[in-house]
Amino acid sequence: MVEFINIALPKGRLGEKAYALFEQIGYGCPSILENNRKLIFENEDCGVRYFWAKPSDVSIYVERGAADIGIVGKDILLEYGSDVYELLDLGMGKCCMAVAGPKGMRIDSGRTLRVATKFPNIAREYYSKLSREIDIIKLNGSIEIAPLLNLSDVIVDIVETGTTLLENNLEKLEEIVSISARLISNKVSYKFKNRQIEDIVEKVKGLL
Ligand code: PRP
Repeated sequence: MVEFINIALPKGRLGEKAYALFEQIGYGCPSILENNRKLIFENEDCGVRYFWAKPSDVSIYVERGAADIGIVGKDILLEYGSDVYELLDLGMGKCCMAVAGPKGMRIDSGRTLRVATKFPNIAREYYSKLSREIDIIKLNGSIEIAPLLNLSDVIVDIVETGTTLLENNLEKLEEIVSISARLISNKVSYKFKNRQIEDIVEKVKGLL
């Protein structure tokens, strides 16, 4: 029986780029390129099984062992504090976590700062280091709207090209941390499927 290595890929452009790396190192799975709604693909010849997960769920699959390895943004690892091994920085999906607000805004430091974000833990940790009192407003997307409608003073969010900020008259105020995609592994899998996982790590490293 083939022992599969299960790989969680984040649905979307980053996942497709990451898959291309796996394909280049001999872990291709041609059926994955068929454009359909299927989510799990396997190639028995090289013992690999891929599945497409929501990007923010990849670390959950890996942490719980449903996937042996996966590709995930550092933002997700920081936010969820996932108990996984971080094996490689893939140097793709580069962006930064930043505080942003309306252009030219003056922050009143005497008042509790209202912070809208998809990343409450990252925001909380950042402001706690600054000993700044904040009120977190947890949103699930389109965070940039919050300060425009006075739901919040600032946002803590991902900035990639800066276009979303620019087009909404917002600007980056402070950078919190740089983000990029990471190859992660389940801790038990890393022990029991060490040969396959290390083979992948070494070969991917050779491409970076
Ligand atoms: C992300 C992020 C910003 C945007 C930044 O949103 O939350 O809104 O991308 O990219 P930019 O600097 O290149 O404009 P995403 O597209 O994931 O959608 P969301 O609003 O649902 O979070």
